[in-house]
Amino acid sequence: MNYLVVGEPATVKEVMRRTDDFAPSNALTSVVPLAPGTLRILSKAKFALPPVLASATGERHRMVRKAVASFFTPAKVAAVTPRVRELTRHHIAETALALDSGPVDLSLSLARHVPPVIMAELTGQDNPPLSDLKLWSRDSLELFWGWPSPERQLELAGSAAEFYGWLRAEVISSRGKDSLFGVLLAAGLSTAEVCSLGYFLVIAGQETTSQLINTALYRGIGLGTEAWAGLANTERADTHVRAVLATESSVHTWRRAAIRDTELNGVKLPAGAEILLELSGRHAPDSPPTAYSLAFGYGMHRCLGAKLAELETRLVVEEAAAALPELKLADPEPSWLRLLSFQTPTTVMAARSPR
Ligand code: HEM
Repeated sequence: MNYLVVGEPATVKEVMRRTDDFAPSNALTSVVPLAPGTLRILSKAKFALPPVLASATGERHRMVRKAVASFFTPAKVAAVTPRVRELTRHHIAETALALDSGPVDLSLSLARHVPPVIMAELTGQDNPPLSDLKLWSRDSLELFWGWPSPERQLELAGSAAEFYGWLRAEVISSRGKDSLFGVLLAAGLSTAEVCSLGYFLVIAGQETTSQLINTALYRGIGLGTEAWAGLANTERADTHVRAVLATESSVHTWRRAAIRDTELNGVKLPAGAEILLELSGRHAPDSPPTAYSLAFGYGMHRCLGAKLAELETRLVVEEAAAALPELKLADPEPSWLRLLSFQTPTTVMAARSPR
């Protein structure tokens, strides 16, 4: 697919604002066509992603968005602060012990743990075992936002089908409960629609934040021990996380499609034209301090987890810098996961610096 790439922040916002011309109907479409064998595996699992939230428009989108937003109100998000600190300190204590024996991968010991627990507590939905959740999340991101060969697609589709099977059972068992899926079923959504929403949200609600935590830790420790230790200060940690969001967010692009013949900055676009919006990495150095905000999109579809993701990332950085000020990078050049819309260092190897 040829995308019109839009990077200038004001034009990105314009596309997101012009909802009569541009819609996120392609938000969850696979970047490469899925091969027949892949589609067979998915359809056997009854896998389907009908538009409900991120790729939906109109009244339906508004209704679902309102219901989901009620689980992530500013008050509910602010109230998780002590719990995030508690979980973070627990994993930092384990990380500290492991550091006594040598370098530790903070992406495994720290960044992956907190977001799934907080999501489960806010939504009232269970998580699968963490190792399954992480494998399924990564595989699904690669299947839909990567460029997998037909052979690789078969492996990824098997994993996505397993994920979907777990999700379907979780959705069915939520009927009658006041959990997120239960509330959506009670509002009249079908099982398939709630599964579609869940497939997006279970990944969006934790993997993207863990990826941002990886980058924030990697860049924070990479500043050198003095600046890293300084991130124990709330304000400095906040500024650091916002700088990472503005320059190399975990969700660095998002898509829109033209829903009618239109034009953008004088360029004619036919209905169906696909646009890739750069949300991060395109701000001028003198941009206002609010520049980071575009990393969560803009307008009617703006991320419902923005405050939560920012809070979790800031608290993990702040707590880690306070408890482990002597950290240095044990591998300054890690490999990166680079997908169309997602990016993160795949490891964050850290060690104690000699005193
Ligand atoms: C670092 C972490 C995260 C980043 C960078 C991120 C980024 C984004 C982006 C770019 C969008 C599309 C916005 C648009 O189209 O205007 C989005 C949508 C969304 N995000 Fe996040 N997100 C993150 C974490 C979360 C979390 C923790 C949640 C949990 C509530 C969440 C829930 C959603 C939902 C529900 C939508 C769709 C909203 C709609 O279509 O109305 N995200 N996110």
